[in-house]
Amino acid sequence: MTKSSDIDLTVLQNSPSPEGRKWYFLPETDSTNAEVIRRLSSHPSEEGLVVIADCQTGGKGRSGRVWHSAPGTGIYLSMLIQPNFSPERIPIVTLMAGLATAIAVNEFIPQPAQLKWPNDLLLNNKKIAGVLCEYHATKVPAVIIGIGINVNHTQFPDDIKDIATSLKLESGLETNRTTLIKQLVTQLDFQYSKLKNNKIQALIDNWTRHSDLFGKPIIISKGDQSITGKAVRLDNLGRLVVLNESGKEIVLDSGEVRIQRK
Ligand code: BTN
Repeated sequence: MTKSSDIDLTVLQNSPSPEGRKWYFLPETDSTNAEVIRRLSSHPSEEGLVVIADCQTGGKGRSGRVWHSAPGTGIYLSMLIQPNFSPERIPIVTLMAGLATAIAVNEFIPQPAQLKWPNDLLLNNKKIAGVLCEYHATKVPAVIIGIGINVNHTQFPDDIKDIATSLKLESGLETNRTTLIKQLVTQLDFQYSKLKNNKIQALIDNWTRHSDLFGKPIIISKGDQSITGKAVRLDNLGRLVVLNESGKEIVLDSGEVRIQRK
């Protein structure tokens, strides 16, 4: 099957892409990230591979959460990259993928969505997209970039309805998923080429321009710890630098950030 509703694999396959890219569309899978990981055992070297599903039955979110993946509405996409660097660089890959997502999504809405460290894209303080990167050490080390975008959803389950939104709910307009996927993959290719050329600072600067986090009072939860302070900047490893209440700069490599809005 190559086509389901508005996802048209033929259009995607005919769009300009790096040489040899393979595209797969699945009407349903457990998780596109899991799909890529399974495929690695028989196809260990397929840099650029893109797997898209119309629906996921076990969509993976960050911190073991489930990613709501209703059919016919969202974008559930994984891209395989096989860069020549170690797992310590994954936070930068997550930022790179978030940036690509923000730039692509913002072409479809009048008011820009904002990045929230480390992997969220928010619109009107609600989540519109998220990134989950997974490292897989096989013969050729691989990073699976998983991106979920809430596109044409008109409703969400009760447990997330107050914290999630979609392009449709925010703009009132239906978005063609094939067109958005094309933009997203074009942006991923572009930002990834910058990363491969070590343009880390440019990437971090660009990420910062697409975020309204900095200078704002925030609360970061990390395990049972909670830190209150102000987001200052990202360092060159993609970690969040926070000025805590005692006036000391602390550097965080993970955590759940909440912006304190007045
Ligand atoms: C998050 O914000 O918690 C990350 C969400 C990532 C969801 C995407 S959907 C496509 C890919 N496959 C998965 O199972 N998860 C990611």
